[in-house]
Amino acid sequence: MKVKYSDLKNKRVFITGGGSGIGASIVEHFCEQESEVYFVDINVKDSKKLINDIKKKNLKLQHLLNAIC
Ligand SMILES: NC(=O)c1ccc[n+]([C@@H]2O[C@H](COP(=O)([O-])OP(=O)(O)OC[C@H]3O[C@@H](n4cnc5c(N)ncnc54)[C@H](O)[C@@H]3O)[C@@H](O)[C@H]2O)c1
Repeated sequence: MKVKYSDLKNKRVFITGGGSGIGASIVEHFCEQESEVYFVDINVKDSKKLINDIKKKNLKLQHLLNAIC
C-alpha cells in the first residue's frame, strides 16, 4: 500500500533531469502525492515515455510540463 502524505498535495515541485532514472522516479512519486509537478530534461524520448506512463496510471497531472531544454 502506498503512503499518502497530505501535506505534499498541491505543493509545486520542480525536478531537473526528471525524464529518466532517479529524476523520473521522483516525478512519478510526487505525482502519486498529487503534487503540482514540473520537470525538465534534454532526453525528449524518455520524457515523453514518462509522461505517457504517468497518464496511463491515471495520476492527477494538472500541470505536468513537457519541458525539454
Ligand atoms: N544511480 C545512482 O545510483 C546514483 C548514485 C549517486 C548519485 N547519482 C547521481 O544522481 C543523478 C541522477 O542519476 P541517474 O542514475 O538517475 O542518471 P540518469 O542518467 O539516468 O538521469 C539523468 C537525467 O538527467 C538528464 N539530463 C542530463 N543533462 C541535463 C540537462 N542539462 N538538462 C536537463 N536534463 C539533463 C538526462 O537526460 C537524464 O534523463 C546523477 O547526477 C548521478 O550522478 C546517481
